[in-house]
Amino acid sequence: MKKVIEVEHLRKAYGSLVAVNDVSFSVAEGEIFGILGPNGAGKTTTVECVQGLRPFDSGLIHVLGLDPKSDGIALRQLIGSQLQESALPDRIKVWEALDLFSSFLPHSLNWCELMNQWGLAEKRNASFSSLSGGQRQRLLVALALVNNPKIVFLDEMTAGLDPAARHVAWDLIRAIRERGTTVVLVTHFMDEAEHLCDRLAIVDQGKLVALDTPQGLITTYANQSKVVFTAEHTDLPWLKQIPHVRSVTRHGPRVEVEGTGPVLALVAASLVDHGIVPSDLRTEQPTLEDVFLNITGHGAHN
Ligand SMILES: Nc1ncnc2c1ncn2[C@@H]1O[C@H](COP(=O)(O)OP(=O)(O)O)[C@@H](O)[C@H]1O
Ligand SMILES: [Mg+2]
Repeated sequence: MKKVIEVEHLRKAYGSLVAVNDVSFSVAEGEIFGILGPNGAGKTTTVECVQGLRPFDSGLIHVLGLDPKSDGIALRQLIGSQLQESALPDRIKVWEALDLFSSFLPHSLNWCELMNQWGLAEKRNASFSSLSGGQRQRLLVALALVNNPKIVFLDEMTAGLDPAARHVAWDLIRAIRERGTTVVLVTHFMDEAEHLCDRLAIVDQGKLVALDTPQGLITTYANQSKVVFTAEHTDLPWLKQIPHVRSVTRHGPRVEVEGTGPVLALVAASLVDHGIVPSDLRTEQPTLEDVFLNITGHGAHN
C-alpha cells in the first residue's frame, strides 16, 4: 500500500513543554487514519506539523512526497483542512464561502456540486451564523474538499455536535473516503475512533503509545470479556473458582464476571449446575475505552 504520510521521530516543544515527543507513524493511501488521545495529548500539534502549518524541532515528515518544511505552499494545494468555526465570518453566506474558497485555489472543484453533495443547496443563501451545528460542520467539510484534496485533515470535527449530527458526520467522513480521499481524523472520542478508523494511533502526553487497527488494539490490550447477569439475593462464591475467571463484582443484583477465553460458556454452564438460569446473561466485549485505560491508566476525558 502506498504511503501518503510518513512521520519519523517528530518532536515539538513549546518552551519547556514537550507537546510531541518522538512520534512516528505512516498513513496509507485511501485509509481513514485516526489520531486518538485526551485533550492536551499533542494531536493538533502533530497534524499541524504534518500540514506544514507549524514548525517543529526535529524529526522527518513527508506528505505526498513533499517536505512540509520546505514545500509547505505546494503541499497545502494537495491537502484539505477543516477550519475551526471561528475562521468564518458570521454573515458570510454558504454560497459566498464556497465561491471565495474556490477562487483562491488553482484546482478547485465545481463548488455547486459540492454544495449539493453535502446537502447545503437549500441553505445556499443562509448566513453562516444562522446554520445549525451539523450544517456548519458540513460547510466546513465542503470547504476542506473544494481543492479536491488527496488527503483531508479533520480535527475534532464532531466536537459540539449532538448524537444525531455526529452520526451524520460519520457518514460524511466515510463518503469522503469512498471518493478516494485519504482521511486523517483527530478525535478524543473513543467510539468515533473505533467505528470509523481503519488504523489508529493512540497518543498520550505527547507520546505515541499504540498503533493498530481498532480490533487489533482490543485484542492486544483488552482481551478480557465481561459476563453480566442479574441474580437476586444469591451469594455466588464458587464463581471465582471457575477457570479463566479473573474477577467477580456485584452491584446490587447485577453481577459482573471478568475473564478471558471461554469464560462465557464456563460461567453459563456453572450457573445452570447451581440451578440459576438468568434470563439476561450476556457478554460485554471490550472497547477502545478499555484499551485506553489499560495502556495509560486513565480515561480519555481526564
Ligand atoms: N501555541 C502553543 N503554545 C504553547 N503551548 C501550546 C500551544 N499549542 C498547544 N500547546 C500545549 O501543547 C500541548 C498539546 O496541545 P495540542 O497539540 O493542542 O493537544 P491536543 O490537540 O491533543 O489537545 C498542550 O499541553 C497544550 O496546552
Ligand atoms: Mg486538538
